[in-house]
Amino acid sequence: MASPWKAARVRSATATIFAEMSALALATDSVNLGQGFPDTDGPAFMLDEARAAIASGVNQYPPGKGIAPLRSAIAAHAERRYGLRYDPDTAVLVTTGATEALAAAILAFVDPGDEVIALEPFYDSYAATIELAGGVRVGVGLFGPDFRLDLDEFAAAFTPRTKAILINSPHNPTGVVLSLDELAEIARLAIENDVLVICDEVYEHLLFDGAEHWPLAAFPDMRQRTVRISSAGKTFSATGWKIGWALSTPELIAEITAVKQFLTYVSGAPFQPAVARALTEGDAWIEAQRLSLQRKRDRLADGLGDLGLIPALPRGTYFLTTDVRPLGYSDGVDFCRDLPKRCGVVAIPHQVFYDNIEAGRPYVRWAFCKRDDVLDEAIRRLHRLSGRAKTA
Ligand SMILES: Cc1ncc(COP(=O)(O)O)c(C=O)c1O
Repeated sequence: MASPWKAARVRSATATIFAEMSALALATDSVNLGQGFPDTDGPAFMLDEARAAIASGVNQYPPGKGIAPLRSAIAAHAERRYGLRYDPDTAVLVTTGATEALAAAILAFVDPGDEVIALEPFYDSYAATIELAGGVRVGVGLFGPDFRLDLDEFAAAFTPRTKAILINSPHNPTGVVLSLDELAEIARLAIENDVLVICDEVYEHLLFDGAEHWPLAAFPDMRQRTVRISSAGKTFSATGWKIGWALSTPELIAEITAVKQFLTYVSGAPFQPAVARALTEGDAWIEAQRLSLQRKRDRLADGLGDLGLIPALPRGTYFLTTDVRPLGYSDGVDFCRDLPKRCGVVAIPHQVFYDNIEAGRPYVRWAFCKRDDVLDEAIRRLHRLSGRAKTA
């Protein structure tokens, strides 16, 4: 029950479904395909670097904006990959995961009553931080079964109160990667409506079947209004390190830094040199990881398909989505709450990412960033469901 002292500002901030499902996974000894974290480590040289940093005394507050070698590595990576040049001293900020970069940006730029357009379903921290800022979220649906963006609906979402758009591509939970044409139209609308653009690009390297990621900041006249956010967590399988970053103009980065200093002040000292090295030397590891994830996606998709759960094949991220109606359920939350008890597997219902609950109701998200034997075990267990389909 909510405390009587709970602030109205955080009325919808409750324990997330990820916490509920992870606790259920532990309690039932389930295979956890719910929360999005890999079960193997990132590059060995990166882990060694962090160990060496701790051993050599890199354990006190680092500079607020991040250590210089990491800021330089982030800027060099953006130039190498996308031809985007950022000044490492003024245009790069290291944050405590992408989550803090998103929160600091939203708190820095969104006033009470300002509207923020985001692709719905949205990653859960968006709703919470827009609410913390007193802003109003306006969802534009990537709805099933194909999860395509309707650009007319996107254009119609702008009002005189729109302050910012928050674009996540590759997109969690659907795995949609926005195309060059879709991004060009989003850029055109952002300029026409003179709004800030916050880009959550944490899955920028997790791309399949030849899909390409195009940062909105690279489109004409977009640099000065765009904040790019990414993270080592997804790229280097180090979600627990919470090292993320924001890249933008010096003016916008100064505002985000001003907020960041009162959220966490600084971010994990010994991880910073390790991430700097990974960004500099890790391209081959990133490519091998991408190919491995594509094989895992296909492994899980094939296994789920055999059960009648035909996934919409994602072109990015490490999540795939299925409609649970073929198994006799009409509601993904019921399905996910039953699944651990019925067969010892955990997934995440899409609904928790939506304001429009109906649109998400039959869908469930599965994480495939797991060892092959774990994916195989999940499929083996899921076969216990077949022939015993629930009649809703
Ligand atoms: C779309 C999206 N943005 C941000 C994050 C958070 O990134 P970090 O762990 O670096 O805070 C996640 C993590 O799942 C995510 O899916």
